[in-house]
Amino acid sequence: MNKERKLIIAGNWKMNKTVAEALDLVRDLKLELAAIKEADIVVCPPFTALSEVSREVLNSNIRLGAQNMSEQNFGAYTGEIAAGMLKEFSVRHVILGHSERRQYQKESDALVAKKALASHAASIKPIVCVGETLSERETSQTEKVLDTQVRGSLAGLSHEQMEETVVAYEPIWAIGTGKTATTAQAQEVHKFIRSLLADLFSEAVARHVRIQYGGSVKPANARELMAQPDVDGALVGGAALESRSFADIVKNSVAA
Ligand code: PGA
Repeated sequence: MNKERKLIIAGNWKMNKTVAEALDLVRDLKLELAAIKEADIVVCPPFTALSEVSREVLNSNIRLGAQNMSEQNFGAYTGEIAAGMLKEFSVRHVILGHSERRQYQKESDALVAKKALASHAASIKPIVCVGETLSERETSQTEKVLDTQVRGSLAGLSHEQMEETVVAYEPIWAIGTGKTATTAQAQEVHKFIRSLLADLFSEAVARHVRIQYGGSVKPANARELMAQPDVDGALVGGAALESRSFADIVKNSVAA
């Protein structure tokens, strides 16, 4: 393993796991992954499990992440959670603009950018998700779509904030479908995103930013994906729900 940037492997548990189930999973992960130093490991449980999981990961090498947050700091926003509330549980990362939120909650690039600014203001590092649909890929619009998403979702961030932001490239056609982008497809898009970051910020910032791949990452494909020069980690959904597969993804990734 000789990566330019430290890997960051995050498990997005989505709307799964009761508190008891979340604790079982994270306890297993702590045991399985105690020796890993070469990658940042993040678990993103549902909000309801943050408090208990936060206590469980204290003094371990596992960091806590959330799956979403409000762009507002407080007030009359029924059902929303603010960055300051996440800070109470020592949340270090927050996933923003996941394709499921873009699709089901109609989150726009502009909203994602506001959320990213709010998370940085609270010293929570965002994981900003971008990715094209199958029809966009098939009609050769991948770069155009990503250009719009990257510019819009990261608008207004300072260079310092951008360096502390993780970008997750998640082709929508690969999420939960069992279809993974080929390593060549992933590398090509990651390189493109890094070149966009160089244009929008600077070469130095672009070199610094970690770009995760997401979409049907499994133990069997993690090593090959992580071996790509511009792939700096993974955002894992389905395979993060079980300790064996998530732990193997982390171990195979650091062996890349
Ligand atoms: P998947 O989900 O690993 O189940 O494809 C990835 C994600 O949505 O972050």
